[in-house]
Amino acid sequence: MTPFSRLFSGSPAPELRTATSADAPEMARLHAGAFHRGWSAEEFERLLAERAGIAHVLAVPKGKMLGFVLSHMVPPESEILSIVLDKGAQGRGHGRALLTHHLGRLAALGVTASFLEVEAGNVAALALYRRAGYGEVGRRKGYYAGPDGAADALVMRRDF
Ligand SMILES: CC(C)(COP(=O)(O)OP(=O)(O)OC[C@H]1O[C@@H](n2cnc3c(N)ncnc32)[C@H](O)[C@@H]1OP(=O)(O)O)[C@@H](O)C(=O)NCCC(=O)NCCS
Repeated sequence: MTPFSRLFSGSPAPELRTATSADAPEMARLHAGAFHRGWSAEEFERLLAERAGIAHVLAVPKGKMLGFVLSHMVPPESEILSIVLDKGAQGRGHGRALLTHHLGRLAALGVTASFLEVEAGNVAALALYRRAGYGEVGRRKGYYAGPDGAADALVMRRDF
């Protein structure tokens, strides 16, 4: 029994796999649930169709998607465009498992550095990225406009 199946005994264990264009609507649903400005299913479809688009999902086979991570990759560099876990699946180690899997695949494709931007107050995301080895390399003042005013973006980098 794998660690995942132990966690989900009684129901099918979620699996990590590469995203396809058929995943775009579920990715848009999760994204809209997490961010003020969601991306449409068409936007995800376009990003996945690009040669540089690479995404992995955590999903119950033939069931609900629990999370995804999407990067834009032009080896030797890549940028994480989004990572989202369904609200009910957060804080259980899935984000870390998804990111670890994703970074492993990027490395296998010749990527040696991954960048990302994250809101300076996003405690969970910062914990996830720091634990995964990302370090701060810049700050964009007032980068994110939101209902509660502008927030800074941190630019982070991880070398493989
Ligand atoms: C950010 C996100 C992807 C993390 O995924 P997750 O599955 O919840 O995270 P994990 O359970 O794998 O935990 C990863 C680390 O974050 C920490 N963490 C998770 N939720 C946390 C919270 N609410 N507050 C503080 N730390 C938190 C964990 O303790 C863990 O750190 P550790 O390894 O040092 O113990 C998820 O919370 C999410 O989808 N948030 C909304 C979308 C978002 O903000 N995406 C990032 C945009 S840049």
